[in-house]
Amino acid sequence: MTADLFDGLEAAGPAREALAPGAVLLRGFAWPQQAELLAAIDTITAQASFRRMVTPGGHQMSVAMTNCGPVGWVTDRGGYRYDPIDPQSGQPWPAMPELFRELAETAAREAGFAGFAPDACLINRYEPGAKMSLHQDRDERDVGAPIVSVSLGLPATFLFGGLKRTDKTQRYRLVHGDVVVWGGPARLAFHGVASLADGEHALLGRRRINLTFRRAR
Ligand code: SIN
Ligand code: FE2
Repeated sequence: MTADLFDGLEAAGPAREALAPGAVLLRGFAWPQQAELLAAIDTITAQASFRRMVTPGGHQMSVAMTNCGPVGWVTDRGGYRYDPIDPQSGQPWPAMPELFRELAETAAREAGFAGFAPDACLINRYEPGAKMSLHQDRDERDVGAPIVSVSLGLPATFLFGGLKRTDKTQRYRLVHGDVVVWGGPARLAFHGVASLADGEHALLGRRRINLTFRRAR
């Protein structure tokens, strides 16, 4: 590790930060794989492009999404669900790269959740002003498995609360390469992302990309 990189990590905070029992922020965990991750995202989105989906209430989301893996998370007027078929193309979602699986599995293990085998990877793209309101990830059949979330590109403010919507939330700055894992007692914690501040990232420009790995079925 170079002195510069070490300084950067120290400036961002400790390498490992507990958010709550069962929830941990692993600073820079995805940093070594960044180039391969971005190349894989380009390949995936060439097949299954980013689109802004509509919520069951008829609201168009500000975050653009796509998926890879056996199933993908989708929302439309009919509700939220995991679907093996991309409704935009009528084809299965692109395969989940081995690199993605390995990163998710090793991050989960590092956080105390060995044996994580994701079958869904939601890919979120935030442009300045895009946000994700406070929500729980509860469309997965088995909430025994954790959620692994990888941040790339522009920094974001991640909100992490408790099991009730009204519980106080803490704010964390997530930067390129950071990974957050939540499971066990934190698996159904409310979380969200504040409106993305404008900026310019060396590799992603005016964008943040987030990967969330789930065990959906
Ligand atoms: C999500 O909750 O699905 C996304 C979280 C993030 O973008 O960091
Ligand atoms: Fe979520």
